Amino acid sequence: MAIRPILTVPDPILKQVSKPVEAVTDEVRALMDDMLETMYDAPGIGLAAIQIGVPQRVIVMDLASADQPRAPRYFVNPEILETVEDVLPYEEGCLSVPDFFDTVERPARVRLRYLDYQGQRVEEWADGMFAVCIQHEMDHLEGTLFIDHLSRLKRNYAVSKVKKAKRTAAA
Ligand code: NI
Repeated sequence: MAIRPILTVPDPILKQVSKPVEAVTDEVRALMDDMLETMYDAPGIGLAAIQIGVPQRVIVMDLASADQPRAPRYFVNPEILETVEDVLPYEEGCLSVPDFFDTVERPARVRLRYLDYQGQRVEEWADGMFAVCIQHEMDHLEGTLFIDHLSRLKRNYAVSKVKKAKRTAAA
């Protein structure tokens, strides 16, 4: 396993649409292991492969709180089959937009289909933070960031804040 660099805005790679994985092979599992280690190190609760520059439809997540044992989850080729009309406003952040947070409204429940770490097909409903997180991560697979759901003013502010922080770190 290895910690990989996380791409941040405005890296154009983050705007790429990721491709479906043909099969959950050992190579894909090695990618998921690296993604999980990278996510825990950051630390974050979700990571899409494109955030480490790999344009494949792969997501890792762990929603366990700090005092709970780790509970990694893996989503390969996830699809949303159904959503409800109720929305859940939630203050989101993203490892690719460090130190910026704002509220996004998304459907409060979604029905998912995906392949897990073993390549088994899973269907389930997600709600609460799970629903928020999987929709945020699935946006990454389409090249969409949570700041794309905000006004242009807020988006520009977020990107300039990240650029400025990078300049300061490099100086
Ligand atoms: Ni994100």
